[in-house]
Amino acid sequence: MRFTIAIDGPAAAGKGTISKAVAQHFGFAHLDTGLLYRAVGAQMLAGVAPIEAAQTLQADALDPAKLRTADVAQAASKVAAIPEVRAALVDFQRAFASRAGGAVLDGRDIGTVICPEAEAKLFVTATPEVRATRRHLELVAGGSSTDYATVLADVKERDARDMNRADAPLRPASDAHILDTSQLSIAQAIAQAIAAITSKQKG
Ligand code: DC
Repeated sequence: MRFTIAIDGPAAAGKGTISKAVAQHFGFAHLDTGLLYRAVGAQMLAGVAPIEAAQTLQADALDPAKLRTADVAQAASKVAAIPEVRAALVDFQRAFASRAGGAVLDGRDIGTVICPEAEAKLFVTATPEVRATRRHLELVAGGSSTDYATVLADVKERDARDMNRADAPLRPASDAHILDTSQLSIAQAIAQAIAAITSKQKG
């Protein structure tokens, strides 16, 4: 059985949490495509040319623990605007999407560019202020002393770069189900995501 679920949206909207829960619910494999761009961004920070880094990327470079920093996030957003970097990562993502047993991919362009034929598409969003508040709480819980204003500025800067780039900009696919999580608990957001996908499965 092949069934692809595409989950796109801006930074810190809840995509990761929702994608993991959806993959577990349906028993599908999950790929966080942001990790690919983060791995390339991390290599750029280490002095490797981004296109070369993308073309030679290895699975063991996708360690979330090392890639979830604010610096790597900004670097990822920068390398993600380079068309040759995006092109180098397409085949891996499409192969993952078409694996037997079903796949969930989350990112920015899954429903629009990587898997326009995906059976179910969600666009998970929330206001920049809500997203910055959530990210700030996460950072503080992890021992960081970053202030809210810095996190909000960071979120807005990444949104602007991801939405305004020429190649595969962040935007909802015309057939995506929009899930605004601003006023939802995690449990509510997951329940609504599963309900939207289940209705696609039945249809
Ligand atoms: O989802 P994330 O925050 O880990 O993504 C980091 C950056 O990678 C994001 O700011 C833009 C880029 N990205 C992308 O351009 N396309 C994707 N499918 C996933 C991420």
